[in-house]
Amino acid sequence: MELKLKASNGLEGGASSSSKEEKQMDGVSRRDFISKGLSVAGWGSVFLGAGAGMAQCIRFFYPSVVFHPPSTFVIGKIADFATDKQPDQYGVIFVDNRFKKDHRFFVIRDQNRVFALFARCTHLGCTVNWFPGLNIFKCPCHGSEFHSNGHEFAGPAPRPLDRLKITQDAEGNLIVDTAVVFSEKEFEKQKIYIEVA
Ligand code: FES
Repeated sequence: MELKLKASNGLEGGASSSSKEEKQMDGVSRRDFISKGLSVAGWGSVFLGAGAGMAQCIRFFYPSVVFHPPSTFVIGKIADFATDKQPDQYGVIFVDNRFKKDHRFFVIRDQNRVFALFARCTHLGCTVNWFPGLNIFKCPCHGSEFHSNGHEFAGPAPRPLDRLKITQDAEGNLIVDTAVVFSEKEFEKQKIYIEVA
């Protein structure tokens, strides 16, 4: 019995010492793991900080630029607007609707000129629509109406539709700039149209 007890005690002693060792190993590897993790995290944050600083430095040497979409469009050559049709009572021969959807303007061909009419209502800025059957522009917001030449005749709009800058280059292309807007007072003064020979 004594032998057995001793033997069993001996076994227990062995088991408990190995579990102690395991615990110690566990403790060491966990400590190792934590300390390695901390050092990786530390270096990581150092590199991140340095990277951010470097990015700021690079940014400093390059000016911040805001890119705008292009505002000029070639609408065709002067010959594309030739016609033998007769003008209406406002001197307009036809209204070209092609640029309204994407660029918000109409091209008007009158008796001897081509000009670009801005489709922005002069009341509160809604986009006006062209009604060929009625020969008028109408605003969907508060009902302003304009003749084919852009002059207002009904609703709250206080003045005619504005025009956009139009130029002709050396090759005869007509170019409209949607970023340069003129109100009625400037139409004749600044020649906001292209003469058709
Ligand atoms: S915005 Fe066109 S009538 Fe008011």
